[in-house]
Amino acid sequence: MSFTGESVASAANNPVLITGASGLVGSALRAALSTKGRSVVSLVRRGASGKNQIHWDLTTAEPPDARAFSGRFSAVVHLAGEPIMGVWTAAKKRHIYSSRVDGTRNLAGYLAGLPGELRPEVLVCASAVGYYGNRGDEVLTESSGAGTGFLPETCVAWEAAAQPARDAGIRVVHLRIGIVLSSAGGALTAMLPAFRFGLGGRLGRGNQWMSWIALEDLVAVIQYVLSNASISGAVNAVAPNPVTNADFTRTLAGALNRPAAIPVPSFALKLLPGGMGRGALLSSARAVPEVLSRLKFGFEYPTLEHALQHALVT
Ligand SMILES: NC(=O)c1ccc[n+]([C@@H]2O[C@H](COP(=O)([O-])OP(=O)(O)OC[C@H]3O[C@@H](n4cnc5c(N)ncnc54)[C@H](OP(=O)(O)O)[C@@H]3O)[C@@H](O)[C@H]2O)c1
Repeated sequence: MSFTGESVASAANNPVLITGASGLVGSALRAALSTKGRSVVSLVRRGASGKNQIHWDLTTAEPPDARAFSGRFSAVVHLAGEPIMGVWTAAKKRHIYSSRVDGTRNLAGYLAGLPGELRPEVLVCASAVGYYGNRGDEVLTESSGAGTGFLPETCVAWEAAAQPARDAGIRVVHLRIGIVLSSAGGALTAMLPAFRFGLGGRLGRGNQWMSWIALEDLVAVIQYVLSNASISGAVNAVAPNPVTNADFTRTLAGALNRPAAIPVPSFALKLLPGGMGRGALLSSARAVPEVLSRLKFGFEYPTLEHALQHALVT
């Protein structure tokens, strides 16, 4: 693969490089781009197979074979990271942090070091609404400050780690993603078994806000920021209608036609290892997509009812 010397104007036809391409978001993005005829290359941690994969474990500073980057990627979408779900042991928290912060630093440094004509025009990095921390009823826009605690500190360092790319003139977008709703994986599939058995319930008092986005809308947001050269910096990738956990619970149970009468008490969640209960499940983030709304981005699934109905039939 060699695109050296191609003009910037034709670079939009060059492949998109995706990290974390095997994950929930990456798989859907790959499919969407391929459907539109865009060529996609995946950066994989384990043995690469075929010409559409490049091997590099981003957490090691050791860069891939230079030949892998001998062609120009029009864009890089960086989604890789140790899953947040699971038991937050000390080792798991280290992996959550370093897979994002070291991985982004190594990737951004590598892209910044490429000769100018090989640098991608844009680097879209995943981040999360976890950036804002536990903020009660406060409405959170991209200009709201970061919160405190493990997830906000991880997100702040994660976003900062892309600085070398910014310094090299690459347009960098940080998508502060809410809970991605899909029946293909993620938080919704983790919740579904309990709710299907009528054993679902609010977490604690249920007054914590949940910012969410349908998977299809997130994939559309990624394509939108890829092609919109005026967008850089933080973008809240959330639907315009966040809900409280109690409302989320009621709406999901309603969509499944099941009761949701068994709340999980706060004290039990606070006993979860590594502070996951307080740091994630009970944490309140009422984020709104101010940047996307200003640009009149059209969400296909702006309300939770609509998003859940869609997710549960696909
Ligand atoms: N899903 C959500 O609700 C949500 C919400 C907020 C933010 N986000 C962020 O959006 C990004 C994509 O989310 P997703 O739901 O698609 O994640 P996912 O399904 O967990 O996939 C993430 C991908 O990252 C790679 N990965 C896993 N563990 C890793 C590790 N220890 N070190 C390096 N890479 C690792 C894997 O790809 P390979 O095996 O191919 O390398 C995996 O497919 C993540 O950074 C996530 O934090 C997601």
